[in-house]
Amino acid sequence: MLIHIRFLRLNLFILLLLVYKTNSKLNLKYGILRRTPNLAARNESISFRPRTKYDVQKTMRLMFYKNNTKTLEASAFDEDYLQRGSGCSPSDKFAIVLHGWIQSCADEWSLALIDRLSFYRGGCVICIDYSVIASTSYMRLYTNFENVTGAIVTIILTLIKNGFDVKRGYMFGFSFGGQLASAVGRSLAPQHMMQSIDTCDMAGPGFDPIAVDHSKAGKHVQCFHSSRDKGTFVYSCHRNIMLGSCGLAQPSVASQLHLGSHGLCVDIYINAFDYPFCALNTTPSECIAFQKVAKIPADYTVGYEENFDNRVTGQIFVPTSLHYPYNLSKKELKLLAGKR
Ligand SMILES: *[C@@H]1O[C@H](CO)[C@@H](O)[C@H](O)[C@H]1NC(C)=O
Ligand SMILES: *[C@@H]1O[C@H](CO)[C@@H](O)[C@H](O)[C@H]1NC(C)=O
Ligand SMILES: *[C@@H]1O[C@H](CO)[C@@H](O)[C@H](O)[C@H]1NC(C)=O
Ligand SMILES: *[C@@H]1O[C@H](CO)[C@@H](O)[C@H](O)[C@H]1NC(C)=O
Repeated sequence: MLIHIRFLRLNLFILLLLVYKTNSKLNLKYGILRRTPNLAARNESISFRPRTKYDVQKTMRLMFYKNNTKTLEASAFDEDYLQRGSGCSPSDKFAIVLHGWIQSCADEWSLALIDRLSFYRGGCVICIDYSVIASTSYMRLYTNFENVTGAIVTIILTLIKNGFDVKRGYMFGFSFGGQLASAVGRSLAPQHMMQSIDTCDMAGPGFDPIAVDHSKAGKHVQCFHSSRDKGTFVYSCHRNIMLGSCGLAQPSVASQLHLGSHGLCVDIYINAFDYPFCALNTTPSECIAFQKVAKIPADYTVGYEENFDNRVTGQIFVPTSLHYPYNLSKKELKLLAGKR
């Protein structure tokens, strides 16, 4: 057992080394990509270019949900899915769900999120399953980042071509999926600006410390942060919600051994539909504010927000509790704030 753990550690070390090596190469590449092309070039790249089909699309599946019922599963490679009875209408709101590494749309959290989105938001929910690529090594998935991003952009452009309006659009991404959501949003912008994007503990390895401006990905971009080992340290969303201890760790890892601080992010996001997760109105003394700290209205709670409150932008600290559903009562929060 001990040897096994040592072996795993060695593997992890090698993985990190590989990630860092590729990282410096990617830095260069992204340095070029990051420069905002002028609008004319943008038009050319999005509207007039024939829609590119990526090989990765052949393995990707689209899961359509209406009223929390799966209405259609289609290949992302064919573009006739909207004519095949997804039950989704272009006048509907639509939500895109993106999972992470070694995950799929069949995961418990994916289904739980689809359920909550169907109930609170309504409209059409489309989970994009790229589990075939996501089930290999992180490195392999990582080298496919741009192609998977391009494939998802193509899928959304097909929706737009069919009359769907990004003003009624929402995208959610967890971990690697969070990075995808941001990259997809930035590719679609500024012509097709997604209304809202929520991410949960966007992945750090391979992406940090490249200073990407995630707020460019959509009209309202809010990012939840929950771990120091797997989450990003780039806090450039309109709203950065620091869960638990400064967004770096969750106290409930002690009671939930199977999840870890990273995985708990999506559980907390899902629970926030039904339970109040109250924000502190000051920066806890043990936390560093990397960004402007938000001005928080009294009794402000975080989570999916149907109508984004523009007054609340910047960094928000939200302590979490030891046990399910991980929220703190107002009394406990007062006690915490009083200690400072
Ligand atoms: C970009 O395309 C839109 C319509 O698709 C057009 O109104 C606009 O003038 C174009 N911008 C440039 C810089 O060509
Ligand atoms: C990305 O897609 C292009 C075109 O389909 C392909 O040539 C390229 O090898 C792909 N990149 C990776 C890393 O798979
Ligand atoms: C949605 O599903 C619920 C439960 O399955 C059902 O009671 C309700 O009638 C459905 N609503 C619509 C509009 O189909
Ligand atoms: C979580 O929210 C519920 C509902 O408001 C509340 O009753 C409960 O006290 C909160 N959790 C904890 C640990 O206090």
